[in-house]
Amino acid sequence: MPSTSTDTSARCTSTATSSPASAWSPGGGTTARIGGFGCAPAYRGRGVGRALMERALARCARAGATRVTLEVIAGNAAAVRLYERLGFQITRRLVGYRWEGDARADGRPAQSGPVEIDPVRFARDVAAGLAGADEPPWQLAPETLAAAVPPRRAYALGPASALVTVGETTAALTAVHTAPSRRRQGHARALLAGLRDALPGRSWTVTPVVPEAAGAEFFAATGWVREELAQYEMVRTADRRSAGFPTF
Ligand SMILES: CC(C)(COP(=O)(O)OP(=O)(O)OC[C@H]1O[C@@H](n2cnc3c(N)ncnc32)[C@H](O)[C@@H]1OP(=O)(O)O)[C@@H](O)C(=O)NCCC(=O)NCCS
Repeated sequence: MPSTSTDTSARCTSTATSSPASAWSPGGGTTARIGGFGCAPAYRGRGVGRALMERALARCARAGATRVTLEVIAGNAAAVRLYERLGFQITRRLVGYRWEGDARADGRPAQSGPVEIDPVRFARDVAAGLAGADEPPWQLAPETLAAAVPPRRAYALGPASALVTVGETTAALTAVHTAPSRRRQGHARALLAGLRDALPGRSWTVTPVVPEAAGAEFFAATGWVREELAQYEMVRTADRRSAGFPTF
């Protein structure tokens, strides 16, 4: 259940969402996500951000969360420092890409094109491939992918599938996936080439939610260039500080 806390006098806002995630919370409990956090410029540097975050953490704890996650733009030093002081630790860097052309996909033999599929099927394909893999960021978690609605659409070509937000002049790839037993056979390359043919005249990007290590070689090999904008995923667990979560 989302809960929003707005301190109008300080003009700061935060939004926290809590969901059961015992698989990812050693010792049980739930994981809460801070979905947005901001303070009006005129009120910065006065401790209100810290006070608001402490209250948000207390609210998460009361809701049963033993783990809180958030993302922050990697260059936002003030925010990173605030979160670190409150016990958050950077767990990984999330990156994005822009497509500049896949030379090897040009001139490939004609073949059947991608077909649109239900995002639920895409989410299930991703879930089936997760065994033994790292926990995905929430944006790439199967439960998030399954909830996709237009203009976000899922497509498949053979054992490869992808989720794309289709605009008039843009196409943002959220995720691409190939069944583990069928990898390194050109399926994801063919799917993306087919999508670019089917959705012409658009600039293609990958939103910066991809763990740095995931698919880096694939993106480099298929004509994608890493964007400068990156995010840190940060996590705070109840036992990270002896004091645990603050209580109010
Ligand atoms: C990334 C992923 C989609 C690639 O799918 P795929 O069908 O195996 O990719 P392709 O066979 O089309 O690979 C195209 C090129 O990418 C490179 N590549 C792909 N996987 C690679 C790997 N594991 N190591 C090194 N290079 C790799 C290769 O250069 C390959 O061409 P080559 O085999 O002729 O050398 C697949 O590994 C996957 O589903 N991973 C889990 C989900 C994920 O991480 N998605 C990316 C972030 S959303």
